[in-house]
Amino acid sequence: MNCCMCTIKRRGVVKGIVIDMLEIGVCIGSSCHIRGSYNVLQSFQQLIEENKLHDMCELKAKLCMRNCHDGVSVSVGDEVFNVSPETAREFFRNKIITKKGNTT
Ligand code: FES
Repeated sequence: MNCCMCTIKRRGVVKGIVIDMLEIGVCIGSSCHIRGSYNVLQSFQQLIEENKLHDMCELKAKLCMRNCHDGVSVSVGDEVFNVSPETAREFFRNKIITKKGNTT
């Protein structure tokens, strides 16, 4: 996990091919923290390891994304979603694995 202040676009290498890393941000602001951002982060970290996606995904903790109304805010690239600890695994499968699945 990296600091949210870094603006350098990271790249990964998959099977010898340089690709842009998919940035996944999980809000750890107070509202999202209360709604379970720590558990969402843990789930994503576990899923990245289980699916061997460390060369393709960069997981970051972020401060308030100004989207505090419903669930934990999660950014995938430029898009922001609301996720709960209960839906984190399904979200990851639908939004991250399918997105990165086409890269290899
Ligand atoms: S605290 Fe997470 S979006 Fe505001």
